[in-house]
Formats: sequence, C-alpha cells, structure tokens
Amino acid sequence: MNTRATLAVLVALLGVPLACAQAAPPSRAAEGKAIVFNRRLGNCLACHTMQGSDVASNVGPLLFHVKQKFPDRNKLFQFLWNPESSKPQSVMPAFGKNMILDRQQIEAVIDFLYTL
Ligand code: HEC
Repeated sequence: MNTRATLAVLVALLGVPLACAQAAPPSRAAEGKAIVFNRRLGNCLACHTMQGSDVASNVGPLLFHVKQKFPDRNKLFQFLWNPESSKPQSVMPAFGKNMILDRQQIEAVIDFLYTL
C-alpha cells in the first residue's frame, strides 16, 4: 500500500467514529431537562427546586432521588399526566390531561427526573 492509500484508509477509519458521534441524537434526558426548565412548557421550576436550577421554589417538594421515590415508571407517568389520579387535592398542573405536554414530552421529562 502506498502512502496515499494508507492515509486514505486512516482518514476513513478515523472518520467513522467521528461521523457516528455527530449523528447521535441528543439524549432524551437532555430533552426532558429543556422541557422542565422551559417556562412555556413544564415550568417545573416555578414550584420545584432541583439540581441545576438557581430558582428557590417551595410550592412543591425539592425534587431529588426521584427514581428511588418512584421506581415504577408508570406510576410517575400517571402522576405527571394527572396528579389528581393519586393526590385528589394536588395543586400541580395535570400536564398530560390538560394537554400542556404530550406523551413523548412526559417520557423525556421522566428520563431527566431519573437523573436527579
Ligand atoms: C403549580 C406548582 C407546580 C408545578 C408547576 C409543578 N409541580 Fe410538581 N408538585 C407540586 C406540588 C405542590 C407537589 C406535592 C404533591 C401535590 O400537591 O401534588 C408536587 C409533586 C411533584 C412530584 C412528586 C414528588 C414527591 O417527592 O412525592 C414530582 C415528581 C413532581 N411534582 C414533578 C413535577 C414536574 C416534572 C413538573 C414540571 C413538568 C412539576 N412537578 C410542576 C407543584 C407543582
């Protein structure tokens, strides 16, 4: 193999992982974080303090160790869809029922909450 061919092979080999890294979509947890922090979408920071936020909110509880508190993903989904399903006096918005967030957005929010 001449030098040029060797270089071409090297470039091709190096290029494959680089191309893959670029093609990878942003993680769903990152999407969820954007939704949680977006005032027009989740606006969860209006009521909850959590890691990564500098807003002191105490209407709702501090959100941490969410996975330990809600190991059943479906239960957490139901709660976010319509908190009154498990807490009849809840003041938290019914994000799914009231069409503030769709199913996919709620799933992304859960992925993010599970990183807390
Ligand atoms: C208007 C205020 C308000 C907003 C906005 C709000 N929450 Fe809540 N949240 C609460 C309150 C209050 C509770 C406590 C239980 C209850 O009253 O429903 C709660 C409870 C929770 C819990 C259960 C915590 C635990 O330890 O039991 C989770 C998880 C949660 N909220 C996630 C979210 C997410 C995610 C968002 C944004 C998509 C959000 N909340 C937006 C007020 C709010």
